[in-house]
Order: sequence, then structure tokens, then C-alpha cells
Amino acid sequence: MTAKFAIILAAGQGTRMKSKLYKVLHQVCGKSMVDHVLTQIEKVNVDQIVTVVGHGAEKVKETLGDRTEYVLQAEQLGTGHAVMQAEDLLADKAGMTLVACGDTPLFTAETFNKLFDYHEAHHDAATVLTAQADNPFGYGRVIRNSDGEVEKIVEQKDATEAEARVDEINTGVYVFDNQKLFESLHKVNNDNAQGEYYLPDVIGILQSEGEKIGAYEMDDFAESMGVNDRVALSKATKVMQQRINEEHMRNGVTIIDPENTYIDVDVKIGSDTVIEPGVQLKGKTVIGEDCVIGAHSQITNCTIEDGVTVTVSYLEDSIMHKNSNIGPYSHLRPLAEIGENVHIGNFVEVKKAQIGKNTKVGHLTYVGDATLGKDINIGCGTIFINYDGKNKHHTNVGDYSFIGSGANLIGPLEIGDHAYVAAGSTITNDVPAHAMGIGRGRQVNKEGYYDRYPVAETAKEAEEAEKAENQQK
Ligand code: UD1
Ligand code: MG
Repeated sequence: MTAKFAIILAAGQGTRMKSKLYKVLHQVCGKSMVDHVLTQIEKVNVDQIVTVVGHGAEKVKETLGDRTEYVLQAEQLGTGHAVMQAEDLLADKAGMTLVACGDTPLFTAETFNKLFDYHEAHHDAATVLTAQADNPFGYGRVIRNSDGEVEKIVEQKDATEAEARVDEINTGVYVFDNQKLFESLHKVNNDNAQGEYYLPDVIGILQSEGEKIGAYEMDDFAESMGVNDRVALSKATKVMQQRINEEHMRNGVTIIDPENTYIDVDVKIGSDTVIEPGVQLKGKTVIGEDCVIGAHSQITNCTIEDGVTVTVSYLEDSIMHKNSNIGPYSHLRPLAEIGENVHIGNFVEVKKAQIGKNTKVGHLTYVGDATLGKDINIGCGTIFINYDGKNKHHTNVGDYSFIGSGANLIGPLEIGDHAYVAAGSTITNDVPAHAMGIGRGRQVNKEGYYDRYPVAETAKEAEEAEKAENQQK
């Protein structure tokens, strides 16, 4: 079998993005563009992958890790110059080399495979992947001779008027005979509008030396989209979004309004789950079967087990076990673990806390740095007071306990099993199992107070004026 290699070009700054972030690190549906390219190439099973880095080299390496080898292009002198940097690693090897750009996030492994197969079957020295573009502006144009054979590729800035009218574009993806690629790269010059060493010039050089050049035209232009600015970034995101959503729907997920549902590429969703409009599912989120993710919820890096209902809520780095539910308008901050059948109602915030099964936290409560057992009822407006301005303190609440509404639980605190906390209490000492903790001032009623208090005076005048007015009527 012929050896296969791949080179990813990712050294450019991406001036047209007008960004502090290097172009290839801009994200499309939760993954950087260059990572998308690498992920697809990984599925092709090549023998060696080399990524050319330059601008933001460290950040790119951090993002991709050891999934690829790297070469450094210290100065960005063009795409041909970029490929040249891989010479030491690859030049003497026999085989076929795929070159792809780090700014074309939509290519699929299937297309790369087809290109390799086409190249091999036709015994070409180079095969360029082309597409018909409705608006080819900005892309390199594929110039064919009268026999329809590819003669060369001309960049937008170097194109004559006639060449610029060609709508067959260079997608920036090629397969080369590896050794011929590196031999002809030495012959590329920078005598062009941008003063750069263009990789596509290799095609013209090989052709003029009598080598066979192939062109494999893909049917779907959208897949070849190169992202050079933010307008293209949003278009690429739309295409990716549609692709992701359709795959989930084919796998049995109901997405009510796919146009307005934003699911990152690595998110997993079980069958018969319903995703309502405006939902955002991000990062490494995994959602089970038979869940309902209600409109406008945002879930990042969470595990949501089967049968969970989320109603307009915001969840980060947390777990919801089977058949639990949350919302509307609640917030799971990192490290919340919500047990089976737990009910988290509205306006509840949970942070770094475990909540045991069947427990109910219905309304307007903050649970932070706490461990709650099972079958507990937490009354409305309870605050787990965990922070003294310097340190965080933990509170444990035992199984079957009942915390009355409006309680302040000042950590560190142990509340035993089957314990009560009286409503409105401020609890600073542990409450033993089966006991009731009550911590609040006794009520005193001051008779006639309304009539004596100056502010009430104004209210009294208003009352009398109203009475007088009513009498006149
Ligand atoms: C390139 C092609 C063009 C093609 C288009 C497809 C060239 C000269 N032109 O144009 O024919 O239609 O892609 O999207 O190749 N890079 C480096 N080092 C450099 C320069 C660029 O690593 O010195 C990397 C960039 O990071 C980028 C990729 O190469 O990922 C392509 O460079 P870019 O400047 O985007 O080229 P285009 O103008 O899009
Ligand atoms: Mg580009």
C-alpha cells in the first residue's frame, strides 16, 4: 500500500480576521478550525501528520497536543514556503501527501479519502480538489487548457480579467506525489502580486514539466469554504450547525427549530430527547435519552442522564442524574451534582454541591459548598452561607431533613438526619439528628406604633385627604 502523509498549514496570522486570536484557532461550533481539519484527517488513517505552525505556534500546539508533529515556519512567506518547512521530515519518503489549510473547517474525511483514491487511480503527480463557486472572489482559480486539463492555478490578486471570470476554484486541498512535491517546491518563486511563495504554483511547474495533473471536482462548494474573515466564519458556522443538527435528528433526537439550535460538534444526545428552540449545548456535554431541554437553556460540559427536564436554565460543568429536573431560571455552577429524581425549581443556584436523590430545592435558594442527603426538603429562600470573605466552608445536611423557608445556614455546619431547621432561622451551630434547630429573635408587637411613627404620619395625611375627597363626591 502506498504510504500516506498529511500537511496542515496553520502558520498564518489571518490579518483579515482583525483579531488578537490567530485565525486557525477561531472556533466553529465549539472547536477551533484547525482542530476540525486535524480531526477529519485523523479519520483518514495517514502514516504521518505534520502541522506547520508560526503565528501563535505555542497556542496552536497547546490546542492540538501530540496528535500531530509540528514544524515551525518562523516567517510567513507563503503557502509554498510553509509546506517547505516539512522538508526535513518528509522529503525523502515515497508516498502521497495531502495538503490542507487550517482555515477550511468543513472538509470531511470522506472527501479527503475520495481525493486520495482519485489521485492514486489516475497516477497523477498532483491532484487538486476544486469546486464551482457562485462567487469565486478571493479564491485561486483553476485554469484549464483547451483540452480541459489543469494548466495552473492563479490567485485572485494575480488574475487577468478573463482568469477572474473562471468560477472553478482551488479549495486549497491537494494530494501530491510526495517526492515530486518537495522537488518542485524548490522551483517556486515569489514573483507575484503578494511577493509570496505560493503552493499552487507547484501545479503549474509540474504541468510545464510534462507531469500529469488531476483535478477532482467536489459537488458541494460549501464544504470547501475557506474562512478568511468573520463573515465567512459565521457562514461556516451555519453550515456546520446544520450538519450537526441533521445528524442528531437522524439519530432520533427531536430538534424543534434547528435553525435556532446551537450544538457543539462533540456533544452527544440520546434518542427521544427533545431540544426546544434557542438551546445552546456546548463543549463536552452528554445528554441521555428521553430528556427535554427547554427553550433558551444553555448547557456547557455537563452530563445529563436519561429522563431529565431542563427548563430555561444555565448549567456548567455539572451532572444531573436520572429523572431530575431544574428550572425555570436556575443556575448550576461548576461541580454541582444533582441526584436522581431531585427537583430544583426556579431561581436556584447550586455550586460545588451534591444533592441526594428525591431532595427538593424548590425556590430562590443558594446551595454552595454543601452535601445534601436524600429526601430533604429545602424551603424557599434558604441560603447556604459558605464564604466569610476569606475562606469557603462546607455544610452537610442529613437524609430526610426539613429546612424551613428563609433559613441562613452558616457553614461550617452539620445538620443530622431527620433534623428540622425552623423557618427564618440563622443557624450557626450543628443540629443533631432528630432535633429541631431554631435560631431567631422572639417576636414583640408594639401597640399603636403606626400612629406614632413620623413616616406613618404622611400615610395618615394621605388617608385623610382621600377620605375628604370621597366626601365631596
Ligand atoms: C489559499 C490558496 C488559494 C485557495 C484558498 C482556499 C495560496 C497562495 N492560495 O488562499 O488558491 O483558493 O487558499 O481557501 O495558497 N499559511 C501558512 N504560512 C504562510 C501563509 C499561509 O501556514 O506563509 C496558512 C494559513 O494559516 C492558512 C493557509 O495557509 O491556514 C492558507 O492561507 P491563506 O492566507 O488563508 O490563503 P488564501 O488567501 O485563503
Ligand atoms: Mg484562506
